[in-house]
Amino acid sequence: MVRPIAFLVGLGFVGILLWSLLWGAVAFIQEPPLPTAEHEFHLHPKETSFPTDGPFGKFDNQQLQRGFQVYKEVCAACHSLHHVAFRDLKDIGFTEAEVKAIAKTWATEVPSINPETGEPATRKGTPADKIPAPYANEVMARAANNNALPPDLSLMTKARHDGGAYVYSLLTGYAAQQPAELLKHFPDSKTGPGLHYNPYFANLNIAMPPPIVADGQVSYSDGTKATVDQMAHDVSAFLIWSAEPKLAKRHEIGAWVIIFLLMATTLAYLSYRNIWSGMKH
Ligand code: HEC
Repeated sequence: MVRPIAFLVGLGFVGILLWSLLWGAVAFIQEPPLPTAEHEFHLHPKETSFPTDGPFGKFDNQQLQRGFQVYKEVCAACHSLHHVAFRDLKDIGFTEAEVKAIAKTWATEVPSINPETGEPATRKGTPADKIPAPYANEVMARAANNNALPPDLSLMTKARHDGGAYVYSLLTGYAAQQPAELLKHFPDSKTGPGLHYNPYFANLNIAMPPPIVADGQVSYSDGTKATVDQMAHDVSAFLIWSAEPKLAKRHEIGAWVIIFLLMATTLAYLSYRNIWSGMKH
């Protein structure tokens, strides 16, 4: 008795599914969804490459240091980097002394306690401190940015599809004007006040003013020419590192694991041949 009832119930479900599929298709044909400006004009990240690409990709410390400089001199005015402590910079080739100097000059007012009186006080940064955020809290951050919140950049390249290439494209993708085609077909999608047209941003209009605008905006000490493209590339590489500092190590270990597994497989196969060699199949 249970079987026929279960069968009927199943049949009921299938019937309802087919019914809704049919009506969905009818609605789609009668009133197809309207194209949106985002759908028509949003662009996928540009084709670009980073030293970390591919299964054997590695970090280029020289580039990461340049990227750090761009972050420090440009992006850090608005964006925090919560997950990076000054001492992590040793991983990208800064010496202990350099890290100490960076921490001391950058973080000048770390909250602390006066050891004698117990009163709240401030101290200079040490390598163990995190890179300080530009704003004390979200309200201040929004107040300074037209009510938009500059997100923390530590994990940004993990949070967006095609992370590094996305950040690079976003930084170099601002257009002075919206395409005429867009305004013709979607007059309501005009870029609003305080926003900037950028086809790589999900909704095409971003509250971040173009941060990297002129060649030579930072001066690199390693002699690399600081073109807009170079700076955008370097800071994107730096953000790939901040999101996954162990990436190069992971690639390295991965390669050894594959070699080990290949060897183990070969050995297993040979011993199988050896053990069963006297048996007829
Ligand atoms: C004047 C302040 C300011 C500066 C300087 C700045 N940004 Fe932004 N940034 C913002 C704001 C505000 C947003 C949020 C935009 C929005 O939500 O529309 C943002 C958003 C972003 C996003 C997130 C985009 C997304 O997909 O959500 C990235 C990535 C980014 N900025 C990278 C950078 C980098 C890299 C630099 C330095 C080269 C930089 N920003 C410099 C204000 C700034």
